[in-house]
Amino acid sequence: MRQQRGSSVDGASSEVSDGARRSAGDRDRFAQRLFTSLPSRYDSLGKLLSLGQDRRWRSAMVDHIVPARPRIMLDVACGPAGVTLELADRTDARIVGLDLTEPMLRQGVANVHRAGRDDRIGLVLGRGQQLPFPDATFDALTFTYLLRYVDDPQQTLGELARVVAPGGVAASLEFFVPPDRFWRFWWWGYTRLVLPIGGWLTGGRGWFTVGRFLGPNISGHYRRYPLPWLIAAWKLAGFEHVGVRLMSLGGGLVMWGTRREDDGAPSSGAEQPSPTSGPTSGATTDATGDR
Ligand SMILES: C[S@@+](CC[C@H](N)C(=O)[O-])C[C@H]1O[C@@H](n2cnc3c(N)ncnc32)[C@H](O)[C@@H]1O
Repeated sequence: MRQQRGSSVDGASSEVSDGARRSAGDRDRFAQRLFTSLPSRYDSLGKLLSLGQDRRWRSAMVDHIVPARPRIMLDVACGPAGVTLELADRTDARIVGLDLTEPMLRQGVANVHRAGRDDRIGLVLGRGQQLPFPDATFDALTFTYLLRYVDDPQQTLGELARVVAPGGVAASLEFFVPPDRFWRFWWWGYTRLVLPIGGWLTGGRGWFTVGRFLGPNISGHYRRYPLPWLIAAWKLAGFEHVGVRLMSLGGGLVMWGTRREDDGAPSSGAEQPSPTSGPTSGATTDATGDR
């Protein structure tokens, strides 16, 4: 397998390049350990454990990219390339998928090859916090389930914004905590009991570990970075027209925004938005729950 330094986006081929191995910190190592045993059955078990919702959520995120008709785009935390392949199906863009965990990317290489998309998709080993690309390289960007795995989400958002050209679009997908108390009760039971046990029964130890980790991790993440904080963080990073949509009664969160034209220097993370800024502080909200 060809190894390259990770900064080139030319010659989109489904090979893993070496952009990250040396600088992985503790959080990165944790994520790598967590995801290393998952790749081969990631998509099928992910679907099962999300009660079939994940595909719908991905699709809702990609809906925000398609109208922009990107020519070249980046999919961060691409894992085995499920989102990357949907982007290839629904746009004409050349797509770079980037992920921290080599086994996930290797599964991505196989999936891209099987789908016959090697001509338009290239996969790169790298960190979302430190992208191996020049400023404004891409005219669209997606990232999925990333911010819970980084030390400084504001810094990471700034880094993601840096590589998007002014006027380019970004969209993300994450789990969320249902805001409604009734549904949060059931979500809590599902994430604390069904996920670990179902993970164990269907995928063995690796999936048990992920199943046990996910619920508390999601709750803790949003205690620290509630939705108003996130919306403000996107804006501080250099995005405007920031919108949010809660999915499946609040179990999923799709966000999107447009890279501002007016400044070329997104926040490096030195500033932090206030967690108390109002949830709608200028954001488009589409938070009516399940659809
Ligand atoms: C839940 S998987 C999502 C995979 C894929 N996007 C999907 O939706 O099917 C999360 C991915 O994030 C990757 N990841 C975690 N921390 C990362 C980081 N700092 N930079 C890049 N990728 C990271 C993991 O290796 C893993 O493949």
